[in-house]
Amino acid sequence: MKPMDSEREKVADRLLNSSAKKFYDPEVDIDWSAPIPPDRPFEIERRCSLYGTHLWDGLSTQQRLDLGRHEVASIAGNGIFFELLLMKVLLNEIYDGDPTTRHVQYALTEIADECRHSVMFARYVERTGAPAYGPPRIVHRLGRVLPVIGYGPALYGAVLVAEEVLDRLQRESMADETVQPLLRMVNRIHVLEEARHVTFARAEVLRRMPRLSRPEVAYQRWLLALVGFAITRSLINPRVYRVVGLDPREAQRAALANPNFHETLRWAGERIMAFLAGAGLVGAPGMHWWYRSFLIAKR
Ligand SMILES: [Fe+2]
Ligand SMILES: [Fe+2]
Repeated sequence: MKPMDSEREKVADRLLNSSAKKFYDPEVDIDWSAPIPPDRPFEIERRCSLYGTHLWDGLSTQQRLDLGRHEVASIAGNGIFFELLLMKVLLNEIYDGDPTTRHVQYALTEIADECRHSVMFARYVERTGAPAYGPPRIVHRLGRVLPVIGYGPALYGAVLVAEEVLDRLQRESMADETVQPLLRMVNRIHVLEEARHVTFARAEVLRRMPRLSRPEVAYQRWLLALVGFAITRSLINPRVYRVVGLDPREAQRAALANPNFHETLRWAGERIMAFLAGAGLVGAPGMHWWYRSFLIAKR
C-alpha cells in the first residue's frame, strides 16, 4: 500500500469489499421474458420533457405512454454512451498505474460494473421496442476527444454529473409502484452499484482539486460546465418525438422552453451541483454553460 496515498487506498479497499458482497448479474437477475403490461408507464408523467406544454395537452393517454417509453429508452441509450466514455477514461487512468494498488483494482472493478450495466441498458432498450437512441452527432464526436483533452477533477466531475443526474431520476422511478416492473428492477440494480462509483469519483475530485494551479482551475471549471451541458442536452434525443407524430425540432424547442423540464433537470442535479460547487469546480468561466444545461437556475 502506498503510504502517501493511504486514504485513497482505504476508500478503494472498502469499495472492493462492498463490490464483492453486493452486485448483480442482469443476465441472471432480471427476467427478460416477463410480459410488459401495456397500461403501465415507463416514465413518471411530470418528468416528461413536454409535460405541461401545449404539445402535451394535445397528446392522448396512449401517446403520453409511448412518448415516456421512448424518452426513457433515449436516457438509457445515452446512459450506455456515458458508460462507454467512463470506461475509456478509467482505462486511460490506469494505463500507467500500479495494478497492485487497491485504487487500480477498484477502477478495474468499476469497469466490470459498467460493462454489465451497458449490456443491461441495451437489453432494456431492446425490450421496450424503442430504437437505440444515442446522443446528438456533435456530442458523439466530442466524446471521442474527451478522454484525450480531459484530465484532473473535471473528468471525475463530469462522470459524477452523468451518474448522479441519472441516479436521482432512477431512484424516484424505482420507488414508484405504478412504473413498469422491468424498469424498476433495472433502476434498482443501477442505483445500488452506482453508489460505489459516486463515492470513488467524489473522493478523486476532492483529492485532485488542491493540486491545480489557478489557470488550471479556470480550465477545469469551463470543461466541466461544457460537458455538463452536453450531458443534459443529450438525454432526450429529439427523434423520440416522432413516435407521437410531433416534429422533432418544434417539440425540442418546446421542451427547452418548458419550465417543468428545467425544474426536473435542476432537481436531478441538485445534490451533485452542491457537491461540485463546494469543491470549487463551479464558477467562471463556466456559468454560461451551467445555466444553459438547466442544472443551475439563473436568478
Ligand atoms: Fe452504470
Ligand atoms: Fe457508474
